[in-house]
Amino acid sequence: MILSTRTMAFSAMLCLLPGLSQAGSVEVLHYWTSGGEARSVQVLQQAMQEDGHTWDDFVVQGGGGGNAMATLQDRVLRGNPPTAAQIKGLDIQRWARLGFLSNINGLADEQQWDERLPPVVAAAMQYNGDYVAVPVNVHRTNWLWANKRILDSVGVAVPTTWAEFDQAADLIAAAGYRVIAQGHQDWQHATLFEAVALSVGGPEFYQAALVEHDFRAMRSDTMDAVFDRYYRLLEHMPLSDDLGEWNQATSLVINGEAAFQFMGDWAKGEFSAEGKVANTDYVCAPVPGTQNQFLFNIDSFAIFDLRGASQADQTAQNDLVRNIMDDSFQRTFNQNKGSIPPRTDMSMSAFDDCARVSMSEFIAAAANDSLLPSIAHGMATTGTVQGYFYEKIGELTVNPISPSESSRELAKAIRYGQYVIK
Ligand code: BGC
Repeated sequence: MILSTRTMAFSAMLCLLPGLSQAGSVEVLHYWTSGGEARSVQVLQQAMQEDGHTWDDFVVQGGGGGNAMATLQDRVLRGNPPTAAQIKGLDIQRWARLGFLSNINGLADEQQWDERLPPVVAAAMQYNGDYVAVPVNVHRTNWLWANKRILDSVGVAVPTTWAEFDQAADLIAAAGYRVIAQGHQDWQHATLFEAVALSVGGPEFYQAALVEHDFRAMRSDTMDAVFDRYYRLLEHMPLSDDLGEWNQATSLVINGEAAFQFMGDWAKGEFSAEGKVANTDYVCAPVPGTQNQFLFNIDSFAIFDLRGASQADQTAQNDLVRNIMDDSFQRTFNQNKGSIPPRTDMSMSAFDDCARVSMSEFIAAAANDSLLPSIAHGMATTGTVQGYFYEKIGELTVNPISPSESSRELAKAIRYGQYVIK
């Protein structure tokens, strides 16, 4: 664009006016497109606009973020990174190791992150001890969502064991409802599978098999039992039911067509967006057998190195980070998103029952070192191993084989993913 002398003089004058001088723009990559997700990201957009900055929405469709990561890679490799991108877990380390992220220790000191974030969250935001990303929330992936009216009408409580689940499922099916609404995408199958692994095998098994990838755990009778239970659940969610996106499945539970969905608490954002109330219209409960256990999934924005960008855009980037860690943003964003704040110094009085339970279990698990990272959501492993895990679980969901052959196939796939990284 060619600017006239008058325009340039006007811009120079604006730069001298307090408050307007640092108005820059931020381009933020994310994949939050469902009703609850869109409401959440708007909170950040609004905070930035109130600071006078321009929000350039870099949104990539696709739950779980697979498409977004491919798009990001392409942009960064062409030398045009966004201001910040929704990148999680071990992938933050990978981008930092390649030299693309910015050191934001100064902002972390200013807002006392070390005092406000539990060590597991702080560590996930750092590379070699330096902060390079900012956390927006903590999701728990081992949740079961239930339509209360359906449960009441068939006279069952939310199941806490698989035996109770099977009994409830028979009654629900006999009453003509769909038992489980679950979208048929690899990442959603993987989300259910990891919760079943925790439930059937327990935390030590989960850690050994899905975090450390210990071969004996991956090939154990316990893993066979995990597959056995997983395949039994598939009977209630046939591929022919034609469900795709996760929020399409959530809608069926909201509308009273299906009784259950196994999904992380971003599903709660959909209930809230529809004005539904926890424990009145719907019930949140841990996946049977995972009471007091917490599979975590932290959403965060990795902050790209904007060397060479205008001072105004660098200021806008700093304001983005400041806004994300601010109390009021954290409260409203997480109420809309279904998650809890990663800051454990915040009051939970304005949150619903599900979030309060989640926070107290998160704090308890963090204190006794029993928080477990979600493999389906990039917390336990890199995107590469996660990709092989997704693919294999997806394949076995479509073409189930015997549980012990399944364990062998999964172990091989994970091993292969590890080999590819090296
Ligand atoms: C993200 C959530 C998101 C969900 C569905 C998860 O991996 O952490 O923020 O709502 O995927 O897209």
